[in-house]
Amino acid sequence: MVKLGAFQNFADLTMSLSLPDLSRTSYRKLRSLKMRYFGEVGYITRQLHRLEVHVRERARIAKRRTLMAERSVSPQAVAIARDLAENGYHITTVAALGLDESVISSCRDLYTPYDSLDLAGVIAKRQGKGKRYWIDLYEEFGQQRMPVLDFLLSDIVLDVCGTYLSEVPVLDYITLLLTPPQGGTIADECRASQDWHLDNDRAQRVKVFMLPLGADAECGPTMFLPKKFSDPSNYRAFYPGYFTDQQFKQSGLDESRIVKFTGEPGAVLFFDTSTLFHCGSRTASKPRLMLCADFGPISTYLPHRTAARTIWPESCLPEINLEIMRKFGATRPKI
Ligand SMILES: [Fe+2]
Repeated sequence: MVKLGAFQNFADLTMSLSLPDLSRTSYRKLRSLKMRYFGEVGYITRQLHRLEVHVRERARIAKRRTLMAERSVSPQAVAIARDLAENGYHITTVAALGLDESVISSCRDLYTPYDSLDLAGVIAKRQGKGKRYWIDLYEEFGQQRMPVLDFLLSDIVLDVCGTYLSEVPVLDYITLLLTPPQGGTIADECRASQDWHLDNDRAQRVKVFMLPLGADAECGPTMFLPKKFSDPSNYRAFYPGYFTDQQFKQSGLDESRIVKFTGEPGAVLFFDTSTLFHCGSRTASKPRLMLCADFGPISTYLPHRTAARTIWPESCLPEINLEIMRKFGATRPKI
């Protein structure tokens, strides 16, 4: 087994490089070390950030924890949350959760005008934006109130997330991602979430994915490693970035343990992407449509000011997060 480290082959490298090459290589190595330990979510700085957040937001955290502790939760939600704690994921269906299946047809309705959109069409629509290998249909339709919200704000979904996180969950974002065939082939950008990683802004979270059209291996399904096989020590050399399939094998992770999120229309995945190594869709011959939502705690590894700007209720979906607080019984639902 080969363990990749920051200084692996560093000595060999220095022997074969010219002075400018050596300077560049050394600079890159030092920069990556700085990011790893002292960056925004560096191994050292992230603990300080988390402590600062806990001190400054202690009243809000306490309130959210109390509301969750006082809530009566169904045995089904407890069982799913337990599965999340033990394995890091749980796969089910909208029907098995006892929820209205109109969320499936509603998402399909949003997809219908785009069902012949190819990669070139997505790229054209994404000009000037970041990732160009998918399009967010939820955003395209103006994030209107629709069965998607009824699904995500259902008791069972909120109770699973709240029980796992031990506090009223914050809903960070909702997307309905359409990845066209071959969407994973845009080379440079695929070095982002299409490579293996952990989501490093928090110690834990619950992502909720749903497949309105279903998905099979040809759709480029989301892949992840269950908790038992997602040893974070394998990540040290790459933290907080990404690693390729080849590096996955070299770092000792077990390829045979990869789970692919495939299933019939209405398949649902709860998983903790801060704990499980995962990656997004790859080259595929068929489109993939996936509803995605991200629920997290207030606690974060990010600096307080960054979190306030990016991942807290007041900065993302404030109205919806107020509604969640009300659902958990907050009489004065300050978010
Ligand atoms: Fe991720």
